[in-house]
Amino acid sequence: MPAMDEPTTLLVVDDEESIRNALRRFLVQQGYEVTSAALCMQRGAFDYLIKPIDLGHLGRAIHHALQRRHTYLEGQQINQWLKDEVTARVAERRLEQANQERLSVATLEALVNALEAKDPYLRGHSARVADLSATVAAQIGATDEQIEAVRTGGRLHDIGKIGIREEILNKQGPLTPTEYEHVKQHVTVGSQILAPLVHLKDVIGLVRSHHERWDGKGYPDRLAGEAIPLGARIIGAVEIYDAMTTARPYQEKMSAEAAVERIRDLVGTVIDPAVHQALEAVVSHRQALVFLDDAQV
Ligand SMILES: [Fe+2]
Repeated sequence: MPAMDEPTTLLVVDDEESIRNALRRFLVQQGYEVTSAALCMQRGAFDYLIKPIDLGHLGRAIHHALQRRHTYLEGQQINQWLKDEVTARVAERRLEQANQERLSVATLEALVNALEAKDPYLRGHSARVADLSATVAAQIGATDEQIEAVRTGGRLHDIGKIGIREEILNKQGPLTPTEYEHVKQHVTVGSQILAPLVHLKDVIGLVRSHHERWDGKGYPDRLAGEAIPLGARIIGAVEIYDAMTTARPYQEKMSAEAAVERIRDLVGTVIDPAVHQALEAVVSHRQALVFLDDAQV
């Protein structure tokens, strides 16, 4: 029992905050100390019993509480199942989308192969450019995602040649200025062909810009320096290297070292110096591997 001069403390319990507060104010005015609580109901208590406890009431309360718990757990399980189901469907959809994207690229690559197959000098050109460009991109420190975009860009960079008249594509000897203008359109035609494929967003810029020059005198947008996407600078340089190292109707095939040496003259005007440096490193590494292979035979 508190001493006569000590205030009496009352516990006010109700699950509604407004009622608790009203009662507390009233009782404090009456001179009581008030502690209020009702959080146990909010925190998940199912029921409460008033003493003296009726055992029948207790049994019903327990039964009721267990039923509610069972329903709650069932609800939790359904929620988890739904979450798992949604996660699985999303993963399935992503996989399906990735497969469709791969298929669309494979279809376009087949078109490029068909185009190149007609010309013995061009056969395998895009595949070689893709492979070497990806290696140069890795050498320069590009991310995995950039490397893959460069690889795909390499495979598809000349797809726009589908839109170039065959007699001009296969012409032996130099092109007239008008014919050259027509050939130059392959970069815009290529990017237009790829435009609907949103997953190739980064690749489209590489296709469009692979004939830009470091000094800004290239085409189609006369971009200069680092305004040219890195992948396009790489594909452009590698394309020149590939043209030099494969036989063409107008030139003998050049050795890898001679080609790297020759295109050094284009550094700073046509080719990005950093790209040339990486290309040189990759080519000399490949040559070292070739010598190693020969030595092992
Ligand atoms: Fe090209």
